[in-house]
Amino acid sequence: MSAQIINGKEIAAQIKIELKQEIEKLKGSGITPGLATVLVGDDPASAAYVRMKGKMCEKLGIHNESIKLSSDISEEKLLSIINDLANDLKINGILVQLPLPEHISEQNIIKSIPLHKDVDGFHPHTWGKMMTGEDTFLPCTPAGIQEMLIRSGNNPEKKHVVIAGRSKIVGLPLANILIKKEPGANATVTVCHTGTQNMSQITKQADILIAAIGRPEVITADVVNENAVVIDVGVNRVEAPETERGYRLVGDVHFETVSQKVKAISPVPGGVGPMTIIMLMKNTVKAAKLTT
Ligand code: GUN
Repeated sequence: MSAQIINGKEIAAQIKIELKQEIEKLKGSGITPGLATVLVGDDPASAAYVRMKGKMCEKLGIHNESIKLSSDISEEKLLSIINDLANDLKINGILVQLPLPEHISEQNIIKSIPLHKDVDGFHPHTWGKMMTGEDTFLPCTPAGIQEMLIRSGNNPEKKHVVIAGRSKIVGLPLANILIKKEPGANATVTVCHTGTQNMSQITKQADILIAAIGRPEVITADVVNENAVVIDVGVNRVEAPETERGYRLVGDVHFETVSQKVKAISPVPGGVGPMTIIMLMKNTVKAAKLTT
């Protein structure tokens, strides 16, 4: 039996229609949501993500300022640029694409973003609110994963969710979101990481398995069970000399074999990626509403 394909692109397109209506309403009352994206350096993957975010803004009628900076910019200069954006009335959300060059402290940069413009949801105070259940901006990838589970008919309520990976961008916040005693959450969550022993014994118990490891195709059919719903967060470039661009994108899951076994699976590309972008748009609209 072949698995249900959880099509993030389609789900994101649905949310896009909903958001467009909201944005038109806001514009009717004189508010145009605005997002600033800041890219430091020329990492091709980061540049591609920022480009996609800008394009989606354009499609939705969100004002977008895309700021590209050299990798040798000082932390002080970057802080001053963020300060300008913090005071810019046309900008409701500020996104600094991570990772940053090593000489810049990511935490200092994240902490310089005002809470009401923290559309990435990375500020420690935003995290505090997320954990205590106050209304705030949820980080885009975890929020997108929750949304795609719900909208695809795979509500995580009362399920055993196993998250492989404890990153600050995905694993850690997702665990916090899915254990909340709320509709669309209320799951039992296990987080596996590099310190976990016998990881496959745990992943096999997952009703929902979230692969957020950052290594190509390491989740294979032998570590999942037949009833599992698998969400692949990985975006890995692997060499493919036969292709025009010289690489192909694969997830953390070996899609070809795992999709033969499990109940449902999200592909890469076209799975979590579009959900992250649309949740960023949603957060930007939410930020714009705060100004009303
Ligand atoms: N790098 C990888 N994912 C993200 C994200 O969601 N936001 C930012 N700012 N940087 C990232």
